[in-house]
Amino acid sequence: MSQQEIKTILSKKIKEIDKILEEYLEIPSSYEKVIHEAISYSLFAEGKRIRPILMIEAYRMLNSDITGVKPFAAAIEMIHTYSLIHDDLPAMDNDDYRRGKLTNHKVYGEGIAILAGDALLNLAFETMIQGALEHNSILALQAMKVIGKAAGVKGMIGGQAIDLLSEKQELTFDTLHYIHEHKTASLITGALQAGIILSGGNSEQIERIKAFGYALGMAFQIQDDILDQIGSEEALGKAIHSDQKNGKLTYLSFESLEIAKEKVRYFSNQALESLAYFGDSAAFLIQLTNYLMNRSY
Ligand code: IPE
Ligand code: IPE
Ligand code: MG
Ligand code: MG
Ligand code: MG
Repeated sequence: MSQQEIKTILSKKIKEIDKILEEYLEIPSSYEKVIHEAISYSLFAEGKRIRPILMIEAYRMLNSDITGVKPFAAAIEMIHTYSLIHDDLPAMDNDDYRRGKLTNHKVYGEGIAILAGDALLNLAFETMIQGALEHNSILALQAMKVIGKAAGVKGMIGGQAIDLLSEKQELTFDTLHYIHEHKTASLITGALQAGIILSGGNSEQIERIKAFGYALGMAFQIQDDILDQIGSEEALGKAIHSDQKNGKLTYLSFESLEIAKEKVRYFSNQALESLAYFGDSAAFLIQLTNYLMNRSY
């Protein structure tokens, strides 16, 4: 399948995710108009929707009826979008553009941007609980636990904290590895793992998908570091050289561009190896991994 063909499939999947997100967004009263607008502004901006797509496709490897996974797919994108709104704040990376538009705080102010992020995190858990109640499902509770941990101090927030504390410091490669694994690979792995749990996967399948998520997530963040240096702002929808501006610890703090690119291929190949276990059912995830390995946005 060519890059263009997979791109066409992905844009269809993005539209499906947007429809699911709309379903779970609350209808505001007049008092809540501004915060609701701020939430929608970032949530419906052009994101790649990688995490919900990965969750649904992991689920689909074992179960073709995707009804049960939908609220969780919406929730993972809500959590991710909240993390981006907060990541862009002046107290964090202080960035002005995201998903091709001004960042949330640039439009609504810092206070509302903080609240919009908080609201998305709350709505994510409310949405998952609704899903769990509708299906009266212990699997749904297990998936929520995985997602809660992946987004928390042992996951994304932990990684973001060390990312911040490492600015302008001389640190080791191990610290960078911790940052990448936690701020990015965790939520990606959590999304995939939740997909397998919800579809009734067994412990072997869960272990294999975790290995896939780890490797894909590491490749994804190294590529993000690379694109911050050599990407196109127009394609990325965010400013480049943000890491340099903030004195961030990135893969390129330690290695040349060539070695960084090689490492993206290395982790992507490792990801593909983990998928081999799932046989033909992993066809789409294989295509997606190959696509992401060469992504320019
Ligand atoms: C950006 O994530 C933050 C990272 C973890 C690198 P994405 O590159 O998935 O951002 P969107 O959702 O497409 O905007
Ligand atoms: C952020 O990493 C990861 C998150 C959890 C949001 P970055 O700070 O590198 O993400 P970008 O480059 O701003 O998208
Ligand atoms: Mg950051
Ligand atoms: Mg950032
Ligand atoms: Mg980055």
